[in-house]
Amino acid sequence: MYSKEQKDIIKYTRAKVLSHMGQSPVDGHGVDHAIRVATWAVEIAKKEKANVYLCEIAGLLHDVGRALEGIDNDGGFKKRHHELSYEICQDWFRNDEAFTMLSKQEKLIILYSIRYHWNNVADKYLEAIVLRDADKMDLFGKIGIVRTEKYLNYDREKIMLHMRFRTDDMFWIRTETARKFFEKQKMFDPILNYTVKKLKEDIHPIDL
Ligand SMILES: [Fe+2]
Ligand SMILES: [Fe+2]
Repeated sequence: MYSKEQKDIIKYTRAKVLSHMGQSPVDGHGVDHAIRVATWAVEIAKKEKANVYLCEIAGLLHDVGRALEGIDNDGGFKKRHHELSYEICQDWFRNDEAFTMLSKQEKLIILYSIRYHWNNVADKYLEAIVLRDADKMDLFGKIGIVRTEKYLNYDREKIMLHMRFRTDDMFWIRTETARKFFEKQKMFDPILNYTVKKLKEDIHPIDL
């Protein structure tokens, strides 16, 4: 599927992400998440006829700014991780010799996809839509619950709020391929069961 050169870049990107994200892992958004998203991106891109190679690279890179989120980095202004990921990758594309193998257009598509992986209507490139769907796939199923619990440090109230966000995330799955995976694997069921179970725990007898 890939040329020798493309395989080399994927291998290089994977190692770079591993070393970068491994330094300060963020619960639920670490290297394991990046690898799962890249794998989903490949599967979705193949069927949607998007550029599989660019989708895999974008999947690996999309959350490299996570560890810096919440830190003051612009005179008290806290940038979101999507923007930080974009800036880090922009710097890598400008200064890391290995990425000179990517064309200007390829870099543009990857950077756009990374910068807007939070924005459900940033549709300039099909690859951006594929990345968003791939990222969403990791929000559902049992893994979605484990990630949410870890990321929110087992804070029950915050977790329940995030479980409500999953309904919105489900609405915004855009590609037919991702929708099919989602439905076939019944990926919303664990989220729904978890939510119902937690809500039931909060029902107590009424005293008169
Ligand atoms: Fe992200
Ligand atoms: Fe992500």
